[in-house]
Amino acid sequence: MSEASVTGAGSRTEPDLEADGSAPRLGPWLWLVGAVILVAGVLFGYDQGVIAGALIGIEKEWDVSTRLVEVITSWVTLGALVGALVAGSIADRIGRRAAVLVAAVLFVAGAIIEAASPNPTVLVVGRLVVGFGVGVASVAAPLYAAEMAPTRVRGRFVSWYQFGITFGIFLAYLVDQLLSSGDRWRAMLGVSAVPAVLLVLLILPSTDTPRWYVTKGRKADARRAVERIRPDDPDAGMAEIEDSIAEDVPQASGGEVFGRRWRTPLLLGIGLAVFQQITGINAIIYYANKIFAAAGFESVADQTAATTWAIGAVNVLATLIAVAFVDRLGRRPLLLAGLVGMAVSLTAVGFAFRSLADIPEDPVTQTARVTNSGALALVGLVVYIASFAFSLGPVVWTLINEIFPRSIRGRGVSVATAFNWGSAWLVSQFFLSLTESIGQAATFWLFAAMCVLAFLWIWRFVPETRGRSLEDIEQMWVDRAES
Ligand code: BGC
Repeated sequence: MSEASVTGAGSRTEPDLEADGSAPRLGPWLWLVGAVILVAGVLFGYDQGVIAGALIGIEKEWDVSTRLVEVITSWVTLGALVGALVAGSIADRIGRRAAVLVAAVLFVAGAIIEAASPNPTVLVVGRLVVGFGVGVASVAAPLYAAEMAPTRVRGRFVSWYQFGITFGIFLAYLVDQLLSSGDRWRAMLGVSAVPAVLLVLLILPSTDTPRWYVTKGRKADARRAVERIRPDDPDAGMAEIEDSIAEDVPQASGGEVFGRRWRTPLLLGIGLAVFQQITGINAIIYYANKIFAAAGFESVADQTAATTWAIGAVNVLATLIAVAFVDRLGRRPLLLAGLVGMAVSLTAVGFAFRSLADIPEDPVTQTARVTNSGALALVGLVVYIASFAFSLGPVVWTLINEIFPRSIRGRGVSVATAFNWGSAWLVSQFFLSLTESIGQAATFWLFAAMCVLAFLWIWRFVPETRGRSLEDIEQMWVDRAES
């Protein structure tokens, strides 16, 4: 990720209203930028969520081993890891708009490869290509939006992206549900080309960001871009951009990121990124249908309905809670409360599976046990998803973008993001094998134990950043290192 790729970072501390307290007016071009960021988020989420339903058809068409199912599922995250790491330099070199275009084209190509794959190997290649697109988009789209939006609405633009991701997961589940009766997994995967084409259509008429043009010495282009997005006062717009570039801090060397001085924020960023994943979120997002099948939801229709509404819709709605409260209640209360909900619900899901594991012979008791355990698993998973979505989901990203001092922010966020994708890969790659070796119940209890660890670690080490300027936060690390 590049230095510039986190310019949106400071946005979360910017006021969202005009000086007179009214909501800022967005011109037509800014709506277009908003649409770009939303559709990019939807694409990201769609590609994460769609595999849950597609696996059912894939396993029917080909005789794939558990290991191969894990590879088909998880290699999107591997591609994303690489994509996110190179996206910053791509966006610096060819521009933010072109980088989003590259991501969209990769999505289309990957979706076509997936939908047409004659065998599992080609499907895995398609997954990697799509993942690479996800990774590039996960950096380039928020960057594009953060640099396009006037300061006062920047925070809101970045949260649209978060919302887009959860909405994309929901949409994928809905498409899975609609197409599940015919096992049409190729159509499920191929449909992701539609929002990708939409993204191309939205970004083509747009310009690159004024900030990028200025850094490339293309002042006339920058001016034209500013005239479009701030027709009311282009002079002020230009001055704002030139000032902010003049205030930029030179980026520290790679070594400094890992040096003693900034060890605390680096460890916090990595810890938050890893805990967000090892508490199990993507095991549930990706393997939701399999989990519901194991919990006694017999028909595919019941499994996909549970996934769509209990996981997908709840995820979207609870994300809105975080957006509303993160600046009012603060980061720590949301994180800690969410982790309590996650730990308790995962423990309950574990008990549901434990009770399913030793089913009695008697058919009447058997049916009752399956019904009760299935209901407990369903309620547990709803509580888990809701708890994640108002806490670790969005708040971890907010914190990761706040805690790094300016001189290492680009690289720091990049390292934390890489750890996030890396841990997402680990969990999705080994989840099924883990359930096969230690059982479903123990696997969920293991995730619950990780929630307890995360709770203790956050309680002890993560400071509250609500209402603090980025400079304050930076000073806090300096004071701590010196004391
Ligand atoms: C995580 C993703 C996850 C998503 C679920 C995000 O904050 O980074 O890995 O799939 O939340 O909504």
